[in-house]
Amino acid sequence: MDGNLSGKSIFIPQRDALLLALEERAGKDYIPIIKAEVGQFLQLLIRAVKPRRILEIGTAIGYSTIWMARALAEEAELVTIEKDEDMYLAARENFQVAGLGEKIRPKFGDALEVLPLLGGEFDFVFIDAAKGQYLNYLELVLDQVPGGGLIIADNVLYRGYVRKSGRIAHKRRTMVRALQEYIEVIQEHPCLDSMILPLGDGLALSVKKSCPED
Ligand SMILES: C[S@@+](CC[C@H](N)C(=O)[O-])C[C@H]1O[C@@H](n2cnc3c(N)ncnc32)[C@H](O)[C@@H]1O
Repeated sequence: MDGNLSGKSIFIPQRDALLLALEERAGKDYIPIIKAEVGQFLQLLIRAVKPRRILEIGTAIGYSTIWMARALAEEAELVTIEKDEDMYLAARENFQVAGLGEKIRPKFGDALEVLPLLGGEFDFVFIDAAKGQYLNYLELVLDQVPGGGLIIADNVLYRGYVRKSGRIAHKRRTMVRALQEYIEVIQEHPCLDSMILPLGDGLALSVKKSCPED
């Protein structure tokens, strides 16, 4: 099977003009964004589980945020954190263009400082910021995720380097080790059921269970 049906790839989701324009800008300005199929997967998941409050860590220009917010139920909201001011401002503008200004609450700042200030629960968390800090984000957010809540992290296979045996180039070693550690922790964590999906650059999917300390 070549993945084509009447000339259209069945693996590449349809995107509207706004998402295509954001993909083009991301490509031109070297802004790392999720793969379109990851956006489609997140949308499907959100439509299925109907979270009331989504948290995204790492907004960039708001591409993944728009994918997710379009699937939100009527009364639900999405909080997204970005520490780069230019990205944050561009994302805010894009949310208005998308007509999603009412559903999305963009926050400017370092997630490590912003997360402890966010009150309330998040039943769907998408982690896509600094790869070396995934465990810190997890630690800060876990108490705010109720039983049954989802925590998803992008890029956990990091272009295949995370599963590669043998020597890893020095410039990638710290990031690869941090991602390997994230995977180990979520797979052994008493409060999480986790699996790795080879989708996009690798997605770690965790469901919170009731914890011994709950
Ligand atoms: C991979 S990009 C996010 C892409 C976006 N989720 C998408 O797919 O459209 C990572 C973003 O996280 C931001 N970031 C990195 N560390 C952060 C932190 N500690 N707090 C908030 N944002 C952070 C970066 O500035 C960058 O814009």
